[in-house]
Amino acid sequence: MSQVIWQKQGIEIDESIMRFLAGEDITLDRELFVHDIRASKAHARGLQTIGVLNETESNSICTTLDALADEWNAGAFILDEQYEDGHSAIESYLIKTLGETGKKVHLGRSRNDQVLVSLRLYMRSQLDTIANHVEHCARAALQQAHTYAMVPMPGYTHLQRAVPSTLGLWYASFAESFTDSLELIQHTRSWINASPLGTAAGYGVNLPLAREQVAKELDFDRMVINPMAAQASRGKHEHQVIAALWQAMQDVRRLAWDLSLFSTQEFAFVTMPAKATTGSSIMPNKRNPDLVELLRASAAVLAGCMNELQQVLSLPSGYHRDLQITKGPLIRAIRTSRDALALVPMLILETTFDEDRLRSSIDASMLATDQAVELAVSGVPFRDAYQQIADSLKGDAPVDADKSVVERTSPGACADLMLQALADRLDACSSAD
Ligand code: ARG
Repeated sequence: MSQVIWQKQGIEIDESIMRFLAGEDITLDRELFVHDIRASKAHARGLQTIGVLNETESNSICTTLDALADEWNAGAFILDEQYEDGHSAIESYLIKTLGETGKKVHLGRSRNDQVLVSLRLYMRSQLDTIANHVEHCARAALQQAHTYAMVPMPGYTHLQRAVPSTLGLWYASFAESFTDSLELIQHTRSWINASPLGTAAGYGVNLPLAREQVAKELDFDRMVINPMAAQASRGKHEHQVIAALWQAMQDVRRLAWDLSLFSTQEFAFVTMPAKATTGSSIMPNKRNPDLVELLRASAAVLAGCMNELQQVLSLPSGYHRDLQITKGPLIRAIRTSRDALALVPMLILETTFDEDRLRSSIDASMLATDQAVELAVSGVPFRDAYQQIADSLKGDAPVDADKSVVERTSPGACADLMLQALADRLDACSSAD
């Protein structure tokens, strides 16, 4: 670390302590850097509005920040250990390029609100990317539900054969679950979409900062009003973001679980695309479903990240350096879910089912519930009908599974999947901000 921005005369910097304090901050700040630059520009414009920077100063700060963003995007600016963090790197760059004017940018802000705003912009943009992936998962599932709407397959409860079902119902279940998760991600996006910039160290400053203008420039819906509340949101918002993503990853986990089960030789229902499986280093006969297994494990990573946050977030009001630790789990959870969800639509669309095998796995005993219902409709009280059918169960009689699923007409069930209603709800979520 060549130099820190808060260095005072007569106080010696201990390198090993500084390295410990920085931790993995400088590498994690690479994710936040473009957002920090964008927020710094908005801050400079705000300072111009209230007359503490003149137009020339504000213009040159913004132009220099644009140049820094260009250098960063071109890989020409390296964010490494010579800086304490990304914030210091931006300020150092401004001072190196602009001299006295560069030293003016930090007026009215603290790294505390600077990191808050960078994190919010980062979370918001990542949520948009991930929401898009989740939407594609739901759309892929919906498309398959249309195509295979009436293909019979066994419906299980407790992993025991229960009643005839369809591939359409199975796929549509994922379409609806992913839509639920998408809605939650959108709600979370709007929940966090407030500007903390201008709250400084958590107590405001003795300047009439143009906070509304800055919030608008950064496309926030509103500003966080109370500076202490802004500080208190650090980690709390991260936790909610991971919680929303966890819901989508839990949908992925269920899908992955089903596929790993259905791909066993015992079930032999599905063939996954060859690229989604790997070979064994010792057993020449094997293709292993490693992709679905690691997809299944990803929800656990997010749960671990949430737990890390929960342990850190036991703090009194105000900023504490402990909060720096919340960055790691946030970024890990976002990368994990983003990378996993990007692969799921392909898995949904390219996995094929063996329709004969699905059909032949429906045995006569699975019609028992249908038969009990039919008997009850003809006038026998349901509990008596249940008993009569239980007493006369035959597992090996011929089964017309197609007839059974066609008769399953309760809304949402096999013969009435209500795919249009699911598509309408998905459209409404995806067009939401
Ligand atoms: N790296 C720090 C963090 O993530 C930035 C804020 C530092 N603020 C301070 N008062 N030391 O929290």
